[in-house]
Amino acid sequence: MNLSEIIKERRSIRKYLDRDIPQEVLRELLEVALWAPSGTNRQNWDIYVVKGDQKEKLLDSMIVASEIFKPTLEKLFPEKMVNTTMNFFKNIGGAPVALLVYMPKHTYELRQDMTSLEKYKLEHERFTNALSAAALIQNILLLAKEKGLGACWMTAPKNAEDRINKEMGITDKELVSVIPIGYPDQEPPAPKRRGDKIHWIGY
Ligand SMILES: Cc1cc2nc3c(=O)[nH]c(=O)nc-3n(C[C@H](O)[C@H](O)[C@H](O)COP(=O)(O)O)c2cc1C
Repeated sequence: MNLSEIIKERRSIRKYLDRDIPQEVLRELLEVALWAPSGTNRQNWDIYVVKGDQKEKLLDSMIVASEIFKPTLEKLFPEKMVNTTMNFFKNIGGAPVALLVYMPKHTYELRQDMTSLEKYKLEHERFTNALSAAALIQNILLLAKEKGLGACWMTAPKNAEDRINKEMGITDKELVSVIPIGYPDQEPPAPKRRGDKIHWIGY
């Protein structure tokens, strides 16, 4: 598969085979993913690879997160979709491993009357950390596809972030996303891409 095919055929996978991922396969995938670009080359992300009993503990937090997230889902989607999503939270589709991507903790207070520059000065660190982590995550998803694995980028677990961090023993970092990963047991159809997103200027 070439890169364009990998990009277009990658899907969010929410159902996995009951099959372990060899640690070497994961190590290789993650070491390549870490070649992602990062703002001022900060590379200040961390990836926690969670399986076994620790993954089971994580699932308890995922259920807590899903209950907090449920009203938002209900506003956005029909009942069937809400139920599917809630079930996915309960067991992350049977994925054998969950990757937790973290960035440094950075707090600030924004005021409504701030200019864009004032806001950016405050937000710059967290903004750039998050974008850099996102580049890393996209690499992980594409490399998973290349290796016959499936994955799903999840930010909704942030609804239970304090609980997750406590269970994982992580104190000084902010959770960016949880990524269930494993061998896929589904081939979801590609959601339509919107066609009005490229704006040519000066052409
Ligand atoms: C920033 C981000 C957060 C996401 N969070 C979740 C999530 O919490 N739960 C989930 O099931 N999917 C989540 N997704 C996956 C999207 O729902 C999915 O990418 C989108 O529906 C398009 O489908 P595709 O990935 O198969 O192309 C997230 C994706 C992104 C990029």
